[in-house]
Amino acid sequence: MEHKSIAIDGPAGAGKSTLARKLAGELGFLYVDTGAIYRTVALAAIRAGANPGREEQVLPLLSGLDIRLDYGPDGQQRMFLAGEDVSQAIREHRISALASAVSAIPAVRDFLLEFQRRQAREHDVVMDGRDIGTVVLPGADVKIFLTAAPEARARRRLLELRERGQQAEFDAVLRDIQARDRQDESRPVAPLRQARDAVLLDTTSLDLEQSLQAMLSLVKERLEL
Ligand code: DC
Repeated sequence: MEHKSIAIDGPAGAGKSTLARKLAGELGFLYVDTGAIYRTVALAAIRAGANPGREEQVLPLLSGLDIRLDYGPDGQQRMFLAGEDVSQAIREHRISALASAVSAIPAVRDFLLEFQRRQAREHDVVMDGRDIGTVVLPGADVKIFLTAAPEARARRRLLELRERGQQAEFDAVLRDIQARDRQDESRPVAPLRQARDAVLLDTTSLDLEQSLQAMLSLVKERLEL
């Protein structure tokens, strides 16, 4: 039987990962966080002494890259790099910009395309990222483009960082978010943009529960659940 897929794209801090995870939980689908995969590639690059933004330094690493995605007993996605669980390490603030830089390299995106599509062939998935509805799963059953005003996204990201015990200032987080938006939207290959058939959901004035309910009703209608 064909598996169902739900594609969720949008800029950093729009609530994608939290909402996609909850949505997947409600539906009994597998949640695939594709940003975590790019983060792992960025970490692999710096650990190898390469600059994640420099194509000529990253390309030679790709063939030897040992990346694995798995799920813990708690159902949470975990990333492994050469057998080591790097799920925590890839969440460090400095990795965000490096992941954005490495993700602009076309060969990196090509390399990860099949990796991501395999998950959707083997499971019902809720997959989140930047190009899921446009490139990775253009035939997804439901596509949602989640966005929010940059200030709202910066506020949420700040809370998230502080909950993880990381120090951050609002202005710096906002600047980082805006720089990452620019970089993700302006890259020539698979830039962040709304797929023509995606539904736009602006969560600026919605809380988590309201956003989740909006997504659930859309998905149930489309999948006739
Ligand atoms: O969602 P995130 O913040 O974990 O993603 C980190 C970076 O990875 C993001 O700035 C851009 C890149 N990315 C991408 O290019 N395509 C995806 N499908 C997911 C993430």
